Amino acid sequence: MTILVTGSTGTVGSEVTRHLAAAGQQVRALTRSPETADFPPGVTPVKGELTDIDSLRAALDGASGLFLLSAVSQDELTGTLIALDLAHRAGIRNLVYLSVIHADSYAAPPHFAAKAAAERVIADLDLPTTILRPGYYMQNDAWEKDRILTEGVYGPPVGKKAVLTVDTRDLAEVAARALLRRQESTDSLPRETLDVVAPEVLTGDTIAAIWAETIARPVSYGGNDLDAFETQMRSFMPGWMAYDLRLMMRSFQVDGMTATSGADHDLHSLLGRPMRSYREFARQTAQLWED
Ligand SMILES: NC(=O)c1ccc[n+]([C@@H]2O[C@H](COP(=O)([O-])OP(=O)(O)OC[C@H]3O[C@@H](n4cnc5c(N)ncnc54)[C@H](OP(=O)(O)O)[C@@H]3O)[C@@H](O)[C@H]2O)c1
Repeated sequence: MTILVTGSTGTVGSEVTRHLAAAGQQVRALTRSPETADFPPGVTPVKGELTDIDSLRAALDGASGLFLLSAVSQDELTGTLIALDLAHRAGIRNLVYLSVIHADSYAAPPHFAAKAAAERVIADLDLPTTILRPGYYMQNDAWEKDRILTEGVYGPPVGKKAVLTVDTRDLAEVAARALLRRQESTDSLPRETLDVVAPEVLTGDTIAAIWAETIARPVSYGGNDLDAFETQMRSFMPGWMAYDLRLMMRSFQVDGMTATSGADHDLHSLLGRPMRSYREFARQTAQLWED
């Protein structure tokens, strides 16, 4: 049985690919650049992308499982909805879709709207799916090295209400385990939605305090300045993406985040261990910064 992994060269998809290959699954890894991709033994690189219908049809042919991750792009909505329909027509029996926390309630950020639409299509097509709704990736904050160490500022304007985070290593393992559970089950498992978040509820101030404790130096929260955030993002990404992320941060600030009750328990039983904490991520990252 073969599982197709999309987003396979990215942060989460590369780890999902590694877990599935280590579990002895036949994995096809979709990438736009198979010639430069570096996959573990047993993984077959497949050239393609979600908006290239012919490549996706061929990649899905004969596969029984799909890990669907759509990069934040201007055609995320188009690529994702096409991929879901092609997966349905190809008879995929085992789907894990990477959505985002509060996909249904944060209306403004375009990449959240794309995921809300995808979740609706999954329900309409009654696809046998585990929908993963991860919180804010802890690994985003590895990019904050200079501001934290040199200015003593935690920059991302995540707000003062509540932010839920996830270590992408845990997210990938949850995704792989959910795929394997479905793949190995003789029954068709029901559709489910899991919030994938570490158990701590954080804010900009509490994240700054964790960094201060970790590096034993003062670190303060940079505040809720969305103009400054957008300007900074525009220095290394297109304007539309910086604005999408601005809208996301505004939603964090205005609405905060809440995980569904029982998320902790479900994740623990899937992984057989608790999710990694932000504190643990900060400690490991600070160690890497020192090396
Ligand atoms: N960052 C967060 O805090 C966060 C939180 C929750 C959810 N998410 C969701 O997580 C997903 C991103 O996961 P990730 O960080 O693992 O992805 P990533 O590292 O950005 O990788 C995505 C992969 O998708 C492929 N791709 C195909 N079309 C692309 C395009 N037009 N632009 C860029 N890449 C494209 C690329 O592979 P090839 O070049 O090999 O084709 C790339 O390696 C998004 O859906 C995002 O909304 C993110």
